[in-house]
Amino acid sequence: MESKQSEIKTGLMRTHHCGEIRTSDIGKDVVVAGWVNKSRDLGGLHFMDLRDKYGLTQLGFEEFKGDLSILKKCALESVVLARGKVRARPDSAKNTKMETGEVEVQVSELELLSQSDINTIPFLPYGSVDATEDLRLKYRYLDLRTQRLQEILKLRSNVTTKVRNILANEGFIEVETPILYKSTPEGARDYIVPSRVHPGEVYALPQSPQTLKQLLMIGGTDKYFQICRCFRDEDLRADRQPEFSQIDIEVSFSTPEYIKKLVERIIAGLFKLPEDFTMRTMSYQEAMADWGSDKPDVRFGLKHYDVTSLFNDSEFAVFRSVADAKGLIKASFVPSENGSFSRKDTDGFTDVVKPHGGKGVAFLKTDAEGGIKKFVSDELKQKLMQTCEATGEGTFFFFADANAETVHSCADALRRHLGKKLELIKEGYEFLWVYDFPLLEWDGELKRFFAKHHPFTSPKPEQFETFLKGHVEDLKKLNANAYDVVCNGYELGGGSIRIFRKDIQDKMFEILGFTPEDAKKQFGFFVEALKYGVPPHGGLAFGLDRIVMMLAKTESIRDVIAFPKTTAASDLMAHAPSVPSKEQLKELHMEFTKK
Ligand code: AMO
Repeated sequence: MESKQSEIKTGLMRTHHCGEIRTSDIGKDVVVAGWVNKSRDLGGLHFMDLRDKYGLTQLGFEEFKGDLSILKKCALESVVLARGKVRARPDSAKNTKMETGEVEVQVSELELLSQSDINTIPFLPYGSVDATEDLRLKYRYLDLRTQRLQEILKLRSNVTTKVRNILANEGFIEVETPILYKSTPEGARDYIVPSRVHPGEVYALPQSPQTLKQLLMIGGTDKYFQICRCFRDEDLRADRQPEFSQIDIEVSFSTPEYIKKLVERIIAGLFKLPEDFTMRTMSYQEAMADWGSDKPDVRFGLKHYDVTSLFNDSEFAVFRSVADAKGLIKASFVPSENGSFSRKDTDGFTDVVKPHGGKGVAFLKTDAEGGIKKFVSDELKQKLMQTCEATGEGTFFFFADANAETVHSCADALRRHLGKKLELIKEGYEFLWVYDFPLLEWDGELKRFFAKHHPFTSPKPEQFETFLKGHVEDLKKLNANAYDVVCNGYELGGGSIRIFRKDIQDKMFEILGFTPEDAKKQFGFFVEALKYGVPPHGGLAFGLDRIVMMLAKTESIRDVIAFPKTTAASDLMAHAPSVPSKEQLKELHMEFTKK
């Protein structure tokens, strides 16, 4: 492409962006470049709207020196470069809705830099894009041309810049850690990469840099952060990707209070909150009892209440048997002024709870027949009203199961559903610290413990001795020295004070069912490091993608990642994953048993 030297003032082909030309530029010679957004021929008067990332500029061709037939070749989405003079639009042609609507560039020369094939282009990336999400992901580079995605990319970049500045000012240094590494347990499956030079051996991609950041503390780094990529092979949801980014932080000689204050400063910076912003705190027990979730959206009510004991000798056999079996029955109350429910609504709620293991949602209207009304005496109704802090008329919803977890997740699912359906969710951000998580989770079927967070999370110091004694019933009651950052129903981050004593870490692996040989094989290097002088330390990791989701007010994590994967972990654009060649498999000493 030829460009006049005088125009390459800054090494760029253009002098102005399409979005920046204003009346103050009238009379200036300019060079603009971008995509053809719209073309019009008004009886021989030609106009073109040229678009770049920054906006639109109208081009006029009254003073065009060349052959106007070039305009026919400039199909929509072609890239062109125009030289010309800025002119005021005639009053009748002014467009007050457009930032550049009072001016136009009268083009003297036009270069068609890249012609777009309008016959095959899958969709046009402006206005309300008319394409399915799969098509947009397949042609992600076209979708990225939309103003919305460009704004989100910019927002994401602003977030990382701001975080880097805040943490650098607090004395943190950014350290990169390996991607080809070893299994780091965060509760998901690993992605593994076979080694060519070590036949039969693999690297694991880090689920997070957890052990590495702790080793950095042992290595004297004191205040570490990293904006890092993590890889987890797990079931994907609207807020999960197989590779995602964390703002990962670790601090030596830190108390939980320091981490909390630091996190509040970061959040205040990112969400433009007052400097003295502090977050509400809620214990895990309270979160589960009132909201059925360890990441409750507290922007609206509809709390749940434990009503199990009220059904101990009820006429309703289904609930009585749950109460007899020491299961859980929870109820929530929706006052009539918030909403009333048709038969179709209440039937439809079964679909809301089904994915969470629920069979249906029983209901009771205080002022109408139906649901479980025939099993509920006036006395029981009064007790329900009292327990659920209900006043006036309304509808109770019930969740009952032998398994408390099923009850919580069904109640939470319906609560979120109703919050949206009844438009109860208020604007804004509600941040929460959730603390006092159980340290361990007991699996009654497998008769073993799992780490609630990860195996490096410390028990509370006052519980070290109980932990070391290792009695199952005592271990079930221990709390972790851990904390989560929750916002509007999303877990934005999680962290803890770490185990820094070797005897406690050894015991943790033992409790989690590792044989000494397994623990040595998987974490020997790490446990050995605990022998050589360890500063007590703690930290936290934010999910960067989720923070950007919050700020961009989107519910899909795919919106905030330039090249995301689908919920089936595929990249539709590049067709990844893909079948390796025979040569690759041979080099890697691998064979697939089945496609
Ligand atoms: P955790 O596993 O809680 O902790 O992860 C920290 C934060 O990362 C985000 N996150 C995800 N975001 C998108 N897609 C995913 N698949 C995904 N998984 C997690 C969440 C979560 O809160 N090493 C510890 C942190 C620590 O203890 O310091 C860790 O990774 O926002």
